[in-house]
Amino acid sequence: MSKVLGVIGATGNQGGSVIDFVLNDQQLSAQYRIRAFTRDASKDSGQALRAKGVEVIEADVADKSSLVSAFKGVNVLFAMTSLGPDGSEVAAGKNLADAAVQSGVQYIIFSTLPPSNKISNGKYYIPHFEEKAEVEQYIRSLGIKSSFFLPSSFMENFYTSMKPQKQSDGTYVIEFLENDGNPRFPFIDIKRDTGNYVGYILNHQDECQGKVIFGAVQSVTAEELAQVMSKSTGKTITVRKVPRDKYLSFLPAQMHKAMCDMYDYLCEYELVPDVVNRIKQDSKYVVKPLTTLEQYLADYAIPN
Ligand SMILES: NC(=O)c1ccc[n+]([C@@H]2O[C@H](COP(=O)([O-])OP(=O)(O)OC[C@H]3O[C@@H](n4cnc5c(N)ncnc54)[C@H](OP(=O)(O)O)[C@@H]3O)[C@@H](O)[C@H]2O)c1
Repeated sequence: MSKVLGVIGATGNQGGSVIDFVLNDQQLSAQYRIRAFTRDASKDSGQALRAKGVEVIEADVADKSSLVSAFKGVNVLFAMTSLGPDGSEVAAGKNLADAAVQSGVQYIIFSTLPPSNKISNGKYYIPHFEEKAEVEQYIRSLGIKSSFFLPSSFMENFYTSMKPQKQSDGTYVIEFLENDGNPRFPFIDIKRDTGNYVGYILNHQDECQGKVIFGAVQSVTAEELAQVMSKSTGKTITVRKVPRDKYLSFLPAQMHKAMCDMYDYLCEYELVPDVVNRIKQDSKYVVKPLTTLEQYLADYAIPN
């Protein structure tokens, strides 16, 4: 255990997956000691990490000075960002990147998303995509060794935003914003497989340097998703395309453009160009087989 792996987002889906994967992998756990970062180490989530033998340190990506001392001695840093109090991930991402360079971190693995505005020639603007993409470019500009993990839609969304809705006749519907065509949506079991990709990167840092590795096991159309879900749950689940004005009526007005742009971008570009081939190409960057939708849904019960 000569090296230290720092994890930002350690109490969340992606960071938690990285930690569990490394702890359970004989080779990686022999090489890396984990330092988990959280804003509040006294919370249950911090205690749970300590119980696994992980060092837990308080750090806030909004406060660069807290990061510089927290990162001292870290060899590789896994980092993700989420919407900060100022509504931007850019400041947080730049803080953590600068602090990593300042404290002598040798390699950053950053969770990114595609530059939707550039890919669509200016047609769509999705703030949380653009901001991660901007942080990615910033990290690249610093000259520190880095690679980027680009996760597709989380299967965990089946418990929240993509939860099938119960109908009065006992069947269920999954609601999608109305759109033209029949796009494919890529998915990942973020809790099990973030660590699977990151484990590969840790084992092959030179090979992965500079690469964006797409995290997805398969892509399905809305109807295919409903079929797989129906089979695994034993319930009748169908797809309903909801008119825009109805869909948006449940959301604050300031979210309407970003929501429509995200959905329309996903429908037009399927997250990344040539999604089926990209999944095939990047699914070699894993330590063990990925969790399929069917495997994930085998344990899935539709929440009330
Ligand atoms: N849902 C999807 O389908 C999807 C797909 C692709 C990408 N994404 C992206 O995934 C991200 C969410 O990832 P996740 O689900 O892994 O996160 P999560 O489970 O929501 O957890 C958020 C993590 O961020 C940490 N954090 C938040 N603010 C922090 C701060 N100021 N300083 C230090 N740590 C901070 C939290 O730590 P503490 O609370 O312990 O401090 C927590 O560990 C979002 O940015 C989203 O855009 C989502």
